[in-house]
Amino acid sequence: MAKAIPIPPPLLLFLFLFSLSITTSLADSCAGRRIHILPLPPRFNSDLLLLCNASFLALSDSPPFCEFVDNHFLGPRILDRFPCWFRSDPRFLEPFFYHRLLSTYPCLSASAAYADAIFLPYYASLDALPFLYSPPLFNSSSLHGLALYQYLRSTHPQVLSRHHGHDIFLILAGVAWDYNQNPEANPVSWGTSFLRRPEFVNFTMLTLDSRPWPWQEHAIPHMTSFHPSSLPRLNDWLFRAARSRRTTLMLFAGGRATVKAAASPTSRPNIRSTIISQCANRTDLCTLVDCSAGVCTHDPLLSIVPMLKSKFCLQPPGDTPTRRSAFSSIIAGCIPVFFEVSSAKNQYGWHLPKSRYDEFSVFIPKEEVVFGGVHIADVLEAIPEEKVRRMRERVLEMAPRVMYMEHGGGDDFKGVKDAFDLAIDGVLRRVQRRVEAIKEGYPNQIYFIDDEEDQKAFVF
Ligand SMILES: *[C@@H]1O[C@H](CO)[C@@H](O)[C@H](O)[C@H]1NC(C)=O
Ligand SMILES: *[C@@H]1O[C@H](CO)[C@@H](O)[C@H](O)[C@H]1NC(C)=O
Ligand SMILES: *[C@@H]1O[C@H](CO)[C@@H](O)[C@H](O)[C@H]1NC(C)=O
Ligand SMILES: *[C@@H]1O[C@H](CO)[C@@H](O)[C@H](O)[C@H]1NC(C)=O
Repeated sequence: MAKAIPIPPPLLLFLFLFSLSITTSLADSCAGRRIHILPLPPRFNSDLLLLCNASFLALSDSPPFCEFVDNHFLGPRILDRFPCWFRSDPRFLEPFFYHRLLSTYPCLSASAAYADAIFLPYYASLDALPFLYSPPLFNSSSLHGLALYQYLRSTHPQVLSRHHGHDIFLILAGVAWDYNQNPEANPVSWGTSFLRRPEFVNFTMLTLDSRPWPWQEHAIPHMTSFHPSSLPRLNDWLFRAARSRRTTLMLFAGGRATVKAAASPTSRPNIRSTIISQCANRTDLCTLVDCSAGVCTHDPLLSIVPMLKSKFCLQPPGDTPTRRSAFSSIIAGCIPVFFEVSSAKNQYGWHLPKSRYDEFSVFIPKEEVVFGGVHIADVLEAIPEEKVRRMRERVLEMAPRVMYMEHGGGDDFKGVKDAFDLAIDGVLRRVQRRVEAIKEGYPNQIYFIDDEEDQKAFVF
C-alpha cells in the first residue's frame, strides 16, 4: 500500500489557486476578446474585387491586379527555391484580413450585443479606386464611404450608438494622407475624404501609414510577399536568413524615377537623392536595386535576394514616410537604417516596440546626411561586427511580428504572434481603453490614450 505523502498547507493553497485560475481561464479564454463581424452586402466587399478588371485602372501606374486574388488574396506562389514567397499585392490586405478573421479567429461572436469590438468587412481602399482613377468621379471624392454609413445607420443604429462607434474597426489598406482631403475642397485634388467624414470620426481604421495625430487610425505593417504556412517553415526561413553570407555593407531598393531625379543637377538635394549618389560612389560597399514601376512588389525576389546578401538596408522616406521594403528587409534579416522617426518608430508601436529600436535598427538623422556631409557607409562601417551580429538576431526576432502568415492549413504556430495577431491585440486594447474612458465619464481622454503594448494606459 502506498503511503500518502502529506502536502504542506502553503502548497495546497497554491494548488487550489492554480486549479482555480485554470478553471476560470478555461471557462472563458475569450473574455474581452470577442469580435463580431458585422455582415455587409457584397457591394461593400466581394463585388469590389471585380474592379480589378476596370478599364479606368489602366490610368493608374500599377498593373491590373486580378491575378493577385489567388491563395486567399496572398497572390500566386513563387514556385522555386523560395517556398512561402508569393507575388502579393499589398492592396489585398483588406480581403486577406477579413478572411483570416473569419476563418481562424477563435473568439468570433455571432451577436454584436456580446462582442467587445465590431469589425466592418469593408474593402475601403478598393472602394476608393473609382474616386482616384475614374475622371467623372474625381469631383465626388468626398462621398467615399457615405453609402457605408447610410447602410449602417439604417440597418444597425444600435451598433453605431452603443459606444458612439468607439468599438468599431476596419482596414484601410493605404496611406492615411490619401484619405484626408477636406470634403469642402474646391477644386479637389487627388485623394478622398474618408478620414475627414464626421460620421467615421470614432471608428478605428487600420492603415499602412498614419498621420501624426493618429487617434482615428493606427498603422499596421504593409503586407510583404512572405507568408509561411507553418512554424517549421517559418523557422527554416529565419535560419536561412541568419546564416546568409552578407558580402555587401548596405543596399537601397527604389524606383528608377528617383534614381533619375537624383542624377539631375536641377533637383534639390533630399535624402533619397543623397543616398543614391553616395551609393553610386561606393559600389564596393553598396547595392542599388532598381524597383521601377512596382516590379519588386510583384516579383519580390528581385529585392529579397540582394537583401539576404546585405548587412544594412537603407529605408529613406519617399512619397510617404513608410515603405513596404522596410518590412521585407526585416524578414530578410537586413538591419533597417531609418532617417526619420515617422518612417517606423512613430507608426508601428503595436508591432515593433518603440523602446527597442536601438536594438534592431540604425537611425541617422536625414539632415546630417543631406546637409551635414555624413557618409552613411562610414557610420555603418564603424559599428563593430559583434554588435551587427546581435542586431541581426534582434531583427530576426522581430520578423514574425511583421509578417502575415498563410492560414487555413490548421497549422499551429505555438503562440508565435504575427502581424495579424498583433493588430487584433492592439485594436482590442484600444477599444477597451476607450470604452472604459467613456464609461468613466472622460470622453476627451480618448485623444490621450496610449494603446502601445508596453506603455501605461494613459499618457497623463
Ligand atoms: C478579369 O479579366 C480576365 C480576362 O478577361 C478574366 O479571365 C478574369 O476572370 C476577370 N477577373 C474578374 C475578377 O472579373
Ligand atoms: C462633377 O463633374 C462632372 C463633369 O465633369 C459634372 O457633370 C458633375 O455634376 C460634377 N459633380 C459634382 C458633385 O460637382
Ligand atoms: C464620437 O464620440 C463622442 C464621445 O467620445 C461622441 O460625443 C460623438 O457623438 C461621437 N461621434 C459620432 C459621429 O458618433
Ligand atoms: C565619393 O567617394 C570619395 C572617396 O571614396 C569621396 O572623397 C567623395 O566625397 C565621394 N563623393 C560623394 C558625392 O559622396
